[in-house]
Amino acid sequence: MCEARKRRRGEVKHLQYTFPNHLKTLGIDKTYYIKTYGCQGNIADSEKIAGIMESLGYNPASNEAGADVLFFNTCAIRDHAEKRVFGELGRLKGLKVANPNLLIVLCGCMPQEEATIELIKQKYDQVDIVFGTHNIYNLPTLLEEAYQTRHPIVEVMSFEGDIIEEIPLKRGHSKKAWVDIMYGCDEFCTYCIVPYTRGTERSRYPEDIIREVTSLKEEGYLEVTLLGQNVNAYGKDFTDRTYGFSDLLWDLQGINIPRIRFTTSHPRDLDPKTMDVMAKGNHIMPHLHLPVQSGSNAILKKMNRKYTQEEYLDKIARLRTLIPDIAITTDIIIGFPGESEEDFEATLELVRKAQFEGAYTFIFSPRQGTPAAKFEDTTDFSMKKARLLKLNELINEGFARGNQRFEGQIVEVLVEGVSEKKKHLLNGYTPHNKLVNFEGPKDLIGTMVRVFIEKAYTWHLKGVMVEHEKTT
Ligand code: SAH
Ligand code: SF4
Ligand code: F3S
Repeated sequence: MCEARKRRRGEVKHLQYTFPNHLKTLGIDKTYYIKTYGCQGNIADSEKIAGIMESLGYNPASNEAGADVLFFNTCAIRDHAEKRVFGELGRLKGLKVANPNLLIVLCGCMPQEEATIELIKQKYDQVDIVFGTHNIYNLPTLLEEAYQTRHPIVEVMSFEGDIIEEIPLKRGHSKKAWVDIMYGCDEFCTYCIVPYTRGTERSRYPEDIIREVTSLKEEGYLEVTLLGQNVNAYGKDFTDRTYGFSDLLWDLQGINIPRIRFTTSHPRDLDPKTMDVMAKGNHIMPHLHLPVQSGSNAILKKMNRKYTQEEYLDKIARLRTLIPDIAITTDIIIGFPGESEEDFEATLELVRKAQFEGAYTFIFSPRQGTPAAKFEDTTDFSMKKARLLKLNELINEGFARGNQRFEGQIVEVLVEGVSEKKKHLLNGYTPHNKLVNFEGPKDLIGTMVRVFIEKAYTWHLKGVMVEHEKTT
């Protein structure tokens, strides 16, 4: 992990995935199940793992108990995420007794931490294969080895490798797709483990992304979400061309897929050219998730975020002049080491001024190997929890206000499925990423419909469909 901070961008090769033909029947009569934790990057990786497994002949199991290969695609962002996985691994010994051929695989961000690997080796001998975020493409070989040797296999690369295109994918949804545009992060926010677990920034070539989005459009997909830890840094690593995130958005909006979203943006790197294409391009949704993390300039500095509260507010003011109805959401960390009452008040002030319509809020979790884990932290945990509660009240007010502005309006909804709590209702999202519940026949799932919003609640909107005819 020390080496990660000294790294330099090397020449990244863009290669094609090669399928190991001799393994195409490895999974015949066997099943797999994937448990995914963490961010959309991990969800997209799980789609690759599923794609590889099915290309080897494995079938999906309907639950973990029925699986012959059980994956834990893990997240290391906070201690809580890691504890959940260790808790689950502890429970699994019983499953191995019931199915002696079961292979347990730990992958994703946790194995990229040395301490985790040591712990697994010492205490969790029920784990058969461990691999990291840089070598998913090697999964067939790791499985073959595990079956042959029946010994635990650990293959974690500490340095990112090349970009491998054309890894088979089994997408989780037939109308909405995740599209990786870049991997890794070079920001090194002092609290964050991601630059260590995901490596340096590497951008996919635009032609590969454009090809993928074009074929998604041809397959009838209605929405793509472009993924990267800092999408605004897209293309900065190219040595053979000048092509950035705004260029990519211009090219992608021309494909005419109805909805384009992206996540995550870094406030410092969000540039006027990107704002311009968001305002003028077609199909780019009027919602931006722009994590601010704190409203205190002193804390932002200690976090290495490289912007001030004023600069952040200026950027979103500019965005709102260009796209007046845009919905802005954010992430905030409470209880960063040294956060005083005054710093916390500055965060509340920022939230009031920024008019966020939603936020993920977290209590700082020290991550071993990151600079902030060593910062002096004298605020006790009960104080941090009290601050979080106070912040959440304010955030929820913004959430409700953001929903209220749609009362009495007709909105377009991409119908996703049946509401979890009220099975007679369908649900889906609007361009502003607002959740809508309404009554309608199930065959509307996967289409776009127009819904009149009768009532706004804090977490969702309730409406009636205005026309039965599908718009797409
Ligand atoms: N690349 C994205 C998301 C990173 S992880 C970005 O830069 O915004 C998602 C969120 O987890 C972060 O925005 C941050 O709010 C939170 N987070 C990251 N590390 C954390 C830590 N050590 N403790 C608490 N929250 C953390
Ligand atoms: Fe972590 Fe900062 Fe990179 Fe986001 S931008 S992934 S918070 S280091
Ligand atoms: Fe977690 Fe790794 Fe994503 S640490 S948030 S799964 S990049």
